[in-house]
Amino acid sequence: MDSKYDLMSGKCSNSKFSLKFKPTPIVFHNKNGPPSPKKIKLNNSKAEIPIPNSNSNSNFGNKCKLSIQEQKRKLPVFQNRNKLLDLIKRHQTLIILGETGCGKTTQIPQYIYSARLQNNGRIAVTQPRRVAAISIATRVSQEIGNGAGIGDTVGYLVRFEEVTSKNTKILYLTDGMLLREAIVDNLLMQYTVIILDEAHERTIHTDVLFGIVKNAQKVRDERKLTPLKVIIMSATMDVDHFSKYFECKVVYLEGRTYPVNIFYTKAPQDDYQTACVATFFKIHRQAPADEDVLIFLTGQEEIEAVVHQIRLLAKDPEVNGPPVRVYPLYASQPSSQQICVFQSVPENTRKVIVSTNVAETSITISGVKHVIDSGMVKVRSYHPTTGLDALKVQRISQEQAWQRTGRAGRVSEGNCYRIYTKFQFECLQKSTMPEIERCNLSTVVLQLLSLEIHAAHFDFMDKPPKESVASAFEQLNMLGAIEDVDSGKLTELGTQMALFPLDPRFSKILLSASNYGCLEEALTIVAILSGESIFLNPPAKRDQVQALRQKFYSAYGDHIMLLNAFREYTNVSQNNRRSWCHEHYINIRNITYAREVRAQLADICRKCQIPASSCGSNMDQVRKCLLTGLFTNVAELHRDRSYITLDKRQIVSIHPSSCIHGQKPPYILFTEVVQTSKCYLRSLTTINVEWLLEIVPDYVRIRNIKCVD
Ligand code: CDP
Ligand code: MG
Repeated sequence: MDSKYDLMSGKCSNSKFSLKFKPTPIVFHNKNGPPSPKKIKLNNSKAEIPIPNSNSNSNFGNKCKLSIQEQKRKLPVFQNRNKLLDLIKRHQTLIILGETGCGKTTQIPQYIYSARLQNNGRIAVTQPRRVAAISIATRVSQEIGNGAGIGDTVGYLVRFEEVTSKNTKILYLTDGMLLREAIVDNLLMQYTVIILDEAHERTIHTDVLFGIVKNAQKVRDERKLTPLKVIIMSATMDVDHFSKYFECKVVYLEGRTYPVNIFYTKAPQDDYQTACVATFFKIHRQAPADEDVLIFLTGQEEIEAVVHQIRLLAKDPEVNGPPVRVYPLYASQPSSQQICVFQSVPENTRKVIVSTNVAETSITISGVKHVIDSGMVKVRSYHPTTGLDALKVQRISQEQAWQRTGRAGRVSEGNCYRIYTKFQFECLQKSTMPEIERCNLSTVVLQLLSLEIHAAHFDFMDKPPKESVASAFEQLNMLGAIEDVDSGKLTELGTQMALFPLDPRFSKILLSASNYGCLEEALTIVAILSGESIFLNPPAKRDQVQALRQKFYSAYGDHIMLLNAFREYTNVSQNNRRSWCHEHYINIRNITYAREVRAQLADICRKCQIPASSCGSNMDQVRKCLLTGLFTNVAELHRDRSYITLDKRQIVSIHPSSCIHGQKPPYILFTEVVQTSKCYLRSLTTINVEWLLEIVPDYVRIRNIKCVD
């Protein structure tokens, strides 16, 4: 039977398809552990709250024919509504812990709102990811069902997208956006309740918000201003660590989970992507059509590839099984598409969701009975010693593995297929390292400085490594954002840099652009780099795509190529853009997103009074301008034909996807590092090394860089 998988692709050997799972059924149980004495345990007491009827059920899981109000009442959190409200009333700070899907994110803000605990203020609910903020806000606005749509009582705010109004009382926003609001008002006065959701994710932004919100609450108390309630929520976290930091009580919501059988592979799988597809078809042949499947992979490209493979293979007459509907789910998707994962599928059709770790805890899709866990995740990590901030696909932690497993046991008993061996599982780290301990801190350090806080004196839950803080200060100093490394006082440029929702290196590029007369070009490049790739690269059409892409090609490299593609796209009339994108293998969603981002960045530039300018075809100006922000991201060709970074002397290679791969320019500027077996540089521009002397003479001197070709 396994021979069927030969259909998949020529490049994979047969052995990859004959996956043998060693069934080791174990019962999945709540991994939160026994409640510590401090916790308040809420039992399933009967809550008698009259809830108005509504017949809308448009956005719920596919197997559910209940009305929205019936669904709300069925959620575990509903049983505890009164007790919860009572606790929230009595405590200024509270930690709420409850199984994923029990209704924390969608229900608790509504409970607070209907009990008017927010008084005249707003309830903010932070999410680490935009996809969650948007989809949950949309759901909650339907649940409230007061006739007004999203953006009225319930709104959302994510980077480059705001759907709110003066009526908005419940605001779902990314943690990054709340942090930006804190720059304008560090006491966050427009909010009376702040819910820090998914606290276990420990993104840099959440970690910084912990300290900012805690401080805002304290200062508001001291100054007798409107008090601020703080609620920290999660499905899984180190409760003792959190309750010690926030000095508060923990409420433990009992949820429902069903046993999940766990299967490990017999042998390690190098090609986990193919193994996921193979496993899916194994399930697909046997399981009834109404059992949905959730596959965890790492990022957009991989997810789109698997979605495509499954769609294609499912149509093959040799593959037995019901028809399938396959949905991708990842952060950079447009909101309209993200909502689709919640939609019903026709009867006798299997629903498959291929997702990043966003479906781990932030988003719950009902009806999932089988989880396929690749065991991998894409994370950004920074190494102060190498100076490189790299996107890396790496193994998940055991905590994440358990969360993924739990997704299969939401509605009834389920199965979780781990694409790794039991031994590999045991070797995984217990929990994920907080982002603050592994990321480039320059954005956060800059944001804190604009709040007049020095990162070294900030009340972090876990202090970031000293070297990371030091290198962030060093970087900001070299960018001209601070007066000197010690005082950390922002310069005028630094204050302007903090206004952009960007890495300071990219804000610097925009703020320098008028000196090079290339603001239009810089805006385009920075906007495109802020999203996912605009180029589609279907492997089956490689030659065709390469031939077509020639017209955008630039000997100066990828950034200019992006610029060329964008320029041509804007020249196409509105009506023809879709077909133009299709013809040129351009991802229409991503290029549309880039256009929106560009408009917003242009708006901030106008506010900073940066005059509009364009350099036409003089690409030297653009290349120099890129260097004003990215001078630490330069590599030189070595005698042995490899590349070495000028900043910290790291050996690197040009990624094969670069348009100048194969040419060996003496100096290149890069914007992305991908770490696999080697350290690859992606998105490149060739530069002249003498420009460094002209643009950043101090840096050249400090690093002792030889600026002769
Ligand atoms: O936050 P928590 O994990 O506790 O749960 P939640 O996000 O509040 O989700 C509660 C329920 O609402 C789940 O059963 C979800 O499937 C459902 N939901 C939905 O149907 N559509 C959405 N857009 C969001 C949630
Ligand atoms: Mg939630």
